[in-house]
Amino acid sequence: MALLTGSKKIKTAVFISGTGSNLKNLIQFSKTKKSPILIDLIVSNNFKSKGLRFAKIFRIKKKIFTFKRKELDEKKLIKILENKKINLICLAGFMKILSRYFIENFKGKILNIHPSLLPNYKGLNTHARVLLNKEKYTGCTVHLVSPKLDAGTIIIQKKIKIKKNDTPKKLAKRVLIEEHKLYPKAILKIFNL
Ligand code: GRF
Repeated sequence: MALLTGSKKIKTAVFISGTGSNLKNLIQFSKTKKSPILIDLIVSNNFKSKGLRFAKIFRIKKKIFTFKRKELDEKKLIKILENKKINLICLAGFMKILSRYFIENFKGKILNIHPSLLPNYKGLNTHARVLLNKEKYTGCTVHLVSPKLDAGTIIIQKKIKIKKNDTPKKLAKRVLIEEHKLYPKAILKIFNL
């Protein structure tokens, strides 16, 4: 991605479906001096996302699309993102799969965070599967989004040691703490900061 020039911050949208802890963390990061991004929009597919409350708390616009009529909703969303001059999209616990059309429209500008050491454990229920396979390590990955699920270029990863008495819940909690450190690092990295 192009080197950041001047003091203009990159207008960013964060897409969520649930709790939004990564969203909150990215908002807090965006308010720091070193952050190259400014979060201008929160998008959710779920009216009940707990994370939507951060729109109000931090006075950020939100848009909700169910994506039930995916093509139509994506087209509407693309218009909004283009009108707002959004130049970076961060998926953070966003549970809908975006179409190739949408992804190509923002080629190289969509990031995702995934709770595993990709390319291992793509998809859902990563922690349970990792434990079932008696892995020694797991982690999290920030990657560019490509039309293939969880398969885009890896930007940065963090490895975490699995403990003897780990459960999917315990592991998820520890991985999430690392996710919160990793996403800002990935953003700094793509802008060569
Ligand atoms: C994170 O573990 C993320 O990696 C995964 O979903 C979870 C979302 O958590 N894709 P939150 O909504 O950011 O708290």
